[in-house]
Amino acid sequence: MEIRKVGVVGCGLMGGGIAQVCAQSGFETVVREVSQDLLDKGMAGIESRLARDVAKGKLIQHAKDAALSLLTPTTALDAFADCQVVIEAIVENLDAKRELYTALDAICPAETIFTSNTSSLTIIEMAAVTNRPDRFAGLHFFNPVPIMKLVEVVRSITTSDATVEVLKEFAAALGKTVIETRDTTGFVVNRLLVPYLLDAVRVLESGSASREDIDAGMKLGCGHPMGPLELLDFVGLDTTYAIATIMFDEFKESRFAPPPLLRRMVLAGHYGRKTGKGFYEY
Ligand code: 3HC
Repeated sequence: MEIRKVGVVGCGLMGGGIAQVCAQSGFETVVREVSQDLLDKGMAGIESRLARDVAKGKLIQHAKDAALSLLTPTTALDAFADCQVVIEAIVENLDAKRELYTALDAICPAETIFTSNTSSLTIIEMAAVTNRPDRFAGLHFFNPVPIMKLVEVVRSITTSDATVEVLKEFAAALGKTVIETRDTTGFVVNRLLVPYLLDAVRVLESGSASREDIDAGMKLGCGHPMGPLELLDFVGLDTTYAIATIMFDEFKESRFAPPPLLRRMVLAGHYGRKTGKGFYEY
């Protein structure tokens, strides 16, 4: 199957990054948001990241113009009718995703492959509302999408081998390295990362060390680019809390249970960088 046109649903932090990478890799890309305001914001983010790369000498002006010319922003789902692959990166809410896939299933031809960038929901519970559970898989990107090299290709119990192969080739064409994982909650990366992040909150909560020393410990002691508390602020405390809650619900293991301090910070609206306050102030 030849992929020429890609549809990205959602133009937030993840969807905007995914759409940018698709266009920069030469794919015609339709990106959709629910309102013109959110769409304009998302497109402005893409333009400013490309402009920054041009200013740094990482990208030539012509490549920026070419990427932007391949991007079609829209608020209409009908624009996905001739896409070979659709990547969904909307809010992490099962009902919203199922409603979206039901609508897309009626718009897109039977061959179109549907994928979800979900971090913690189960692929099969979305695939089941469509008539193409064999052409449905997880395609999990990492933040910031243009920089992080990995994509998890997630095979549900109904995903066909052919779909997995097409998606592996597609992710490679985006310049990403693929790992294949089964449809277990958190896949590979979040299954390992989330308990580590939660443990960092427990260490802080216990008073064993300061936020700076916890972060310096993991950056300088283990070579991580960010300490765990900085990374929590970067990913979003609300997002991590939601992922941990879903993982705890699935596995019933205490290591996935969100610690009380994390819950209280989320209740206070201290989500991290996006709200200007998390474990640090921005
Ligand atoms: N978008 C695009 N590019 C970005 C960016 C963004 N949001 N933030 C930083 N960059 C680029 C910079 O432009 C810079 O590019 P250059 O080297 O070509 O000049 C490069 O990244 C490095 O940035 P900085 O020098 O400003 O800062 P750092 O060296 O600290 O790097 C970082 C920033 C790349 C974000 C690095 O700190 C990092 O890798 N942090 C860990 C990120 C991580 O673990 N992500 C995974 C989160 S988990 C996830 O996404 C899964 C989900 O399901 C929860």
